Amino acid sequence: MKHAAVIGWPIAHSRSPLIHGHWLETLGIAGSYDRLALEPERAEAFFRDFAASGLVGANVTIPHKEIAARCAVRHDAIVEKLGVANTLWLEDGVLAATNTDQAGFLANLDAGAPGWDANPEVALVIGAGGATAAVVNGLIERGFSVQVANRTVERAEALALRFGHGTTAHDFAAIPALARQAGLVVNATSLGMKGEGKVPIDFSLCRDTTVVTDIVYVPLVTDFLARASARGLRTVDGLGMLLHQAVPGFERWFGVRPKVTPALRQIIEADL
Ligand code: ATR
Repeated sequence: MKHAAVIGWPIAHSRSPLIHGHWLETLGIAGSYDRLALEPERAEAFFRDFAASGLVGANVTIPHKEIAARCAVRHDAIVEKLGVANTLWLEDGVLAATNTDQAGFLANLDAGAPGWDANPEVALVIGAGGATAAVVNGLIERGFSVQVANRTVERAEALALRFGHGTTAHDFAAIPALARQAGLVVNATSLGMKGEGKVPIDFSLCRDTTVVTDIVYVPLVTDFLARASARGLRTVDGLGMLLHQAVPGFERWFGVRPKVTPALRQIIEADL
């Protein structure tokens, strides 16, 4: 029987076991997927000796995505580019790593707003934290020019410098002007999670065709998405990114490509 896990610190609230557990059960695969709490002090030794863990592979979450990328003996181009890994497996006995957050972000938009990238133009990404690199790189690969607006403009500038391809950096004061041009607006800040403030954007400035998505999925319908919907814009919630990023890991560990279905969504929604 194959064992996989999601590794983080803390890890109690990860929904990944629900996702992979549903796939194992519905596909009739004898395997397991658990939560593994790994103290930061033990992380390097654990990843360096991953083969001794008894796991065929793992997902990695905060705060271990960087150290996992560093400890992996083999990493693909996307890990090289983003510097963080979220999916691990053993290949010829050595640790291999990829990052599926970008693919998850894009697959969620593909499923939730078909045609969203048919005429790639300007995308406005609000936020410049840990999750933003995967979003920016994904949008560049789909042909968008990305404008990053962040409260701390220096973090947006660092992203613009790192990714190039017309990526520009802005502070929040620029959002009204940027909103008018954007074909896609992404909230990549943590604003919208319980107890936080609101994303400072007025959707009445956007064109009717603008697509809006959020990487926050608790609550499922954030204030950001609710305001975009009320304005009549097409919206895609953030839960799909979580579900779609899980697909490649499961396929690698258990040999079957699983599907993101309404039934799976319902199970996770019920747990939010
Ligand atoms: P993570 O790495 O998990 O994404 P993070 O690096 O703290 O977390 O990034 C969170 C993002 O939300 C950042 O863009 C952050 O803006 P700053 O770079 O200016 O900190 C943004 N964010 C969080 N709280 C915010 C707030 N109250 N107002 C505006 N932006 C906020």
